[in-house]
Amino acid sequence: MAVKPASEHAHWSSRWAFIMAAVGSAVGLGNIWKFPYEANSGGGGAFVLIYLGFVFLIGVPLLVAELSLGRRGQLSPIRSMEKVAKEEGRRTAWSLIGWSGVIGSFIVISYYSVVGGWTLSYMIQTVLGNLQGITGEEAVAGFDALVTNPWMPLVWHGLFMGITVGIVLRGIEGGLEKAVTLLMPALFILLIGMVIYAGVTGDFAAAVSFLFQPDWSKLDADVILSALGQSFFSLSLAQGSIMVYGSYLTRQVKVGKAAVTIAAADSGVALLAGLAIFPIVFAYGLTPGKEEGLVFQTLPIAFGQMTGGVVIGTLFFGLLTVAAITSAISLLEPSVSYLAETDKFGRKKAAFIMGGAAFAFGSFSSLGYGILSDVTIFGQSIIGFKTYLTNNLMMPMAGLFTALFVGWFVSRKAMMDELAMEEPWFRVWYFLVRFICPTAIAVIFYHVVIGF
Ligand code: PHE
Repeated sequence: MAVKPASEHAHWSSRWAFIMAAVGSAVGLGNIWKFPYEANSGGGGAFVLIYLGFVFLIGVPLLVAELSLGRRGQLSPIRSMEKVAKEEGRRTAWSLIGWSGVIGSFIVISYYSVVGGWTLSYMIQTVLGNLQGITGEEAVAGFDALVTNPWMPLVWHGLFMGITVGIVLRGIEGGLEKAVTLLMPALFILLIGMVIYAGVTGDFAAAVSFLFQPDWSKLDADVILSALGQSFFSLSLAQGSIMVYGSYLTRQVKVGKAAVTIAAADSGVALLAGLAIFPIVFAYGLTPGKEEGLVFQTLPIAFGQMTGGVVIGTLFFGLLTVAAITSAISLLEPSVSYLAETDKFGRKKAAFIMGGAAFAFGSFSSLGYGILSDVTIFGQSIIGFKTYLTNNLMMPMAGLFTALFVGWFVSRKAMMDELAMEEPWFRVWYFLVRFICPTAIAVIFYHVVIGF
């Protein structure tokens, strides 16, 4: 199987298109669906502070590392890693970082699309006014009925995956760019609108103190690891997504600045999502539900009771769907780019094959709440196991090796040339990626996996 030359590799048409795509990848279900409930179980402000620390001290340096490796390689993550390792006179085994990303993103898209399907279904439910006036029990029962149904979740999962494949097969300029430059500004406007609405009608003060007042008593090693996992997941790190987006970059773009912009937008959206959701939850006297239920079970009660709930509810689930789609395309892209850069597959064929395989693999997750709900892997549900495997094991591991690779195995001079950062920023970045990232990840990892 011959590989097409790097000169045939696609490129973003502008810096703006790249930023929108990368922010679109980062901002997703992780910010709006997962962050609020993780913050809730991790003690509110304490979790938020630690999470933000991880984003800027570990996340940003790794974003820079991944973007620059992708750009230098100008190939899919697996082949880019192989190429850079060879150029630096290192073992090609470093391409395992690329493999871990491609396999990880495939595992994630398989269940991400299931949750994406739920959001699609909720959007339609709200448009149809089906949530109007529902009680707490009805909201809980409605969600359970959807996820335990033997075939409905599969249909929504298929539809969501179909939309994702439909965008990815059109390529970088024709598909990804068009989708993100349209959808991302819409998402920001919707989100700001939701926050203003929540601020005016909800209990904003309670939400602010919940999100920003630390309750340190809830903090333990597991919460710290989930804050780390969440920061990786939310920034799309160690999944090949950022590296493959980096491979479509030209040399004009300043990678350091772009990384800070992406991280700031991503954590900004997570906090705004909290400020859109919790004021409503508190104003209606609801307690933040556990886990998946917060957005799907708790919020619909509020939408069902408020005036204009149909519109607000539709906007909210529309927002969630848009965020999910722009992330899903970045989850499919790493494996598609790997196949599409060979002469055996065109992009279309690659997108259908990987999308189809992810749909099939994801159908177990889709059914994991219904007919397969008795199936557990190491005591966890199917989605729970996939999340643990990718967020808490594969991502930190791949992140650790990425930091070690750029910090210790690529020459300092090559990194300086690639990044073209001004001093003192290069020195700060280099210090973080060489010492802080690997040590912090290794220590947290050791505590949780090896135990104490
Ligand atoms: N960052 C996305 C989110 O927060 C999910 C994602 C993870 C996307 C990994 C790409 C790679 O929802």
